Amino acid sequence: MFTNLFFVFILSTSFFMCATHDKTKSVQPEKKSEEESKKLTTNEDKIITQATSIREAFVDASPDVLVDIIITTNVSERLQIAMAYTRKYGKPLEHDLETKLGNKDLGKLMTGMFEPRSVFLAKDLRHAIAGLGTDENTLSEILCCLKASELKELIGTYHMLHKKRLFKDIEADTSGDFRKLLLKLVEVVRNENEDDRKEFNLRVADVVKKLNPEVPTSVSTTTKRPLLDHIKYVFHSKKQKAENLYVNIQSIIDVFSTHSFIVIDKASQNYEKITGYELTETIRKSAKKEDFQELLLDILQFSVNRTEFYVHKIHDGLTQYKFKPSRKSLTRALVMLSHSELSHVQLAYQTFFRRKIINVLDGKPGDPYKSAVNRILNSCDN
Ligand SMILES: *[C@@H]1O[C@H](CO)[C@@H](O)[C@H](O)[C@H]1NC(C)=O
Ligand SMILES: *[C@@H]1O[C@H](CO)[C@@H](O)[C@H](O)[C@H]1NC(C)=O
Repeated sequence: MFTNLFFVFILSTSFFMCATHDKTKSVQPEKKSEEESKKLTTNEDKIITQATSIREAFVDASPDVLVDIIITTNVSERLQIAMAYTRKYGKPLEHDLETKLGNKDLGKLMTGMFEPRSVFLAKDLRHAIAGLGTDENTLSEILCCLKASELKELIGTYHMLHKKRLFKDIEADTSGDFRKLLLKLVEVVRNENEDDRKEFNLRVADVVKKLNPEVPTSVSTTTKRPLLDHIKYVFHSKKQKAENLYVNIQSIIDVFSTHSFIVIDKASQNYEKITGYELTETIRKSAKKEDFQELLLDILQFSVNRTEFYVHKIHDGLTQYKFKPSRKSLTRALVMLSHSELSHVQLAYQTFFRRKIINVLDGKPGDPYKSAVNRILNSCDN
């Protein structure tokens, strides 16, 4: 009963579910013409038909029908199907999916596709914390890169689902600078206001200076090329050596938790123009602990290019995660990204690694997870 109500509550209040990484906004029609309301009814019929076909597919426990639906719908349509299912059969679809498909990769992928993204992530987080040993990669990958509104919703969902505070759980389960930065992230203090150009430039300049106090404050995003070259010249004539390019750890925790991804991206470009060193290198040298370093690099990579962020996460997971391949990052990307975002990720993956994702994913022929992934990825190809 409770789960039912809770699920409906999430569905009706959540916006995170629809558009985590989707930039497109749907425009509500002012008034419905006859034709539009007809379309609406057929759409509702379609949703109920799909919910019914899922139910029927449970008889032979084949994920094919689910995959058919996944490749032709987006996340908000799938949530409507899940609601229709619950109304018709009195049980949350999520519950039936877990019962039929289990809690392994295939079950997680399919369930994730039909639940609000905040629910999917909250479960993943809890698993990363409560499982045997902490899964730092998952904590980092999820918490590095959500917008303030998404993070707030995730924290609320986590609390409702697990009756626990995410902040407290992280505090109890992690340590060192990794913990410091994670806790700062879940305080949700990121300033995402980018409307004021002047303030934006000042913030970028401030960040560059925090990352290297020797860089003059006069450097901003608008600094012209000759002036930049001059500053670079002065900077280098001070014989700044690579080995001196350590970042103050507290400064970098502040920068990476309080500034928006766009500011971090701009600041990293300016930092590199002036110092001649990649910020990634500086982070690798300054943050020695592996979990902390990875979290910083995740935030930076996501800020610079989110397609590449997912490409690297998927690849790391499939090839080297704790010396044992893991499908978690791939599953997360499949659930979190829209079809068009997935198609960009696939293309970039092939460019970087000269192989298709599906060919790097291990698994025997007939492995149901692998065939589901194959069909989903193929459907995004065009
Ligand atoms: C999902 O698809 C429907 C129907 O094509 C469309 O109206 C809606 O805007 C889409 N939603 C998102 C979040 O892309
Ligand atoms: C992000 O990376 C992808 C793949 O390398 C590239 O195609 C795309 O242009 C990049 N986007 C930006 C904004 O740099």
